[in-house]
Amino acid sequence: MTANLVLLGPPGAGKGTQAEILRERLGLEHLSTGDILRAEMKAGSELGKKAKEYVEKGELVPDEVIIGMIREKLLALPKEKGFLLDGFPRTVAQAEALDELLKEIGRELTAVIYLKVSWEVVRMRLTGRLICRNCGAIYHRVNKPPKNDMRCDICGGELYQREDDKEEVIKQRFEVYNQQTAPLVDFYRQKGILFEVNSEVSAEETFKQIENILNSL
Ligand code: AP5
Repeated sequence: MTANLVLLGPPGAGKGTQAEILRERLGLEHLSTGDILRAEMKAGSELGKKAKEYVEKGELVPDEVIIGMIREKLLALPKEKGFLLDGFPRTVAQAEALDELLKEIGRELTAVIYLKVSWEVVRMRLTGRLICRNCGAIYHRVNKPPKNDMRCDICGGELYQREDDKEEVIKQRFEVYNQQTAPLVDFYRQKGILFEVNSEVSAEETFKQIENILNSL
């Protein structure tokens, strides 16, 4: 199935988890601004150094930096495949820039999937999240524990906790989401392409809801 999707939702809603399932089962190209920024931070690039100041405090990286970065990636996407945007757009300015970029490359969004979760679930998910340093696979100490302590089931890489998954930073990220990203729910609802999903159920049940939406389009 070819579709061009945005995954929208607060930190810890399960965007990365669903993106991985959608990439694997539907063959969509996955673009995550958070992953791109973390790779730049790890490489110590100029962009990475600039991003670090914001990411570690739970603030958004300035729009002009993100828009320039995602533009390059969108232009490089293979035309024959659908794509999946995870963590972008995150402000109304980014959403407007995305509209322009898509016009430029002659593509349009099929649907915006809004993953709904409460603060309590966000807090529980992010304080328990573990990520593979090598392949980026996502685990959870309770919900999806690795078979071997602190090692990735897939590649054996070391698992770590993200710097911005400390409780005080999680709170800040959730507030920033409510102030700056939540308005996108109405922005896309008005365009008639917003679909809500209950993301407090298991990852598989969440995926089933997304699959049903895509089948109904
Ligand atoms: P980013 O990396 O995009 O983080 P985020 O949006 O805060 O989202 P997360 O990655 O924390 O959560 P997720 O929804 O992907 O959840 P996951 O699937 O991992 O951004 C990080 C930072 O980069 C931002 O704060 C900002 O500074 C900057 N940035 C990025 N994009 C930007 C932009 N466009 N503009 C400006 N700045 C930008 O799941 C979480 C945990 O829950 C995991 O442990 C998982 O195993 C578990 N889990 C997931 N689903 C389920 C389920 N259904 N049931 C049980 N457990 C589950």
